Amino acid sequence: MSIQLHIHSSREAAIRIVAQEIASLVRNKPEAVLGLATGSTPIPLYQELVRLHREEGLSFRHVTTFNLDEYQGLDRSHPESYWNFMHRHFFDHIDIPAANIHLPGSRVAEADMLSHCMAYEEAIRAAGGIDYQILGIGRTGHIGFNEPGSPADSVTRCIHLDAITREDAAPSFGGLDQVPTSAITMGCGTILSARTITLMAFGEGKAEIVRKALREPITDQVSASFLQNHPAASFQLDLGAASAL
Ligand code: PGA
Repeated sequence: MSIQLHIHSSREAAIRIVAQEIASLVRNKPEAVLGLATGSTPIPLYQELVRLHREEGLSFRHVTTFNLDEYQGLDRSHPESYWNFMHRHFFDHIDIPAANIHLPGSRVAEADMLSHCMAYEEAIRAAGGIDYQILGIGRTGHIGFNEPGSPADSVTRCIHLDAITREDAAPSFGGLDQVPTSAITMGCGTILSARTITLMAFGEGKAEIVRKALREPITDQVSASFLQNHPAASFQLDLGAASAL
């Protein structure tokens, strides 16, 4: 197993390391392609990157971004849409041009789904591939929204959200019945094509799934376990998330 494991004394310490990695990538390669994630885990990372932009002149002017996923059936302006999340937490506070920002659509008609997903894959390829991919991990072991059963070579597609994933999202949507039932996600294969991958997990609530992803045999029932085979993947954990290892 080549995966690198980093256990930090605090979430803040982990975030600082990841932000520094991204900052040095962007300083060395201003046209870097970043793969971005949503959820509660990366919010402090975006805060730190915004700080580096404001206080240390880190520029995202030539950076291109691709987000992992997007709910289906919400307007972009919906507070829980990932388009809205990313602008609120990150894009509105840095100098990235709007044209360099990519997320899957949030209201893609069924008839257009295949071509929309293939165009997303093609846009990643045309940009030169993802240099640095950020990931969280869900309680189902998902990366992006690659729920159990997602093959290692899966590509961008529309998937049905797992019951556990919808349950976890229910509080922020104000009830389970408000949570979308499907989403477009980069596939496991799309994610694994990134040159460098950093999965962040914080808190004891993530300990058991982190243990499964790292310590058990690779399985499509835990899509994060596919990272074990990636040549440049790391897990950045706090003590809580590492407590079952
Ligand atoms: P979280 O979600 O960052 O809100 O814990 C992680 C995920 O579902 O990938």
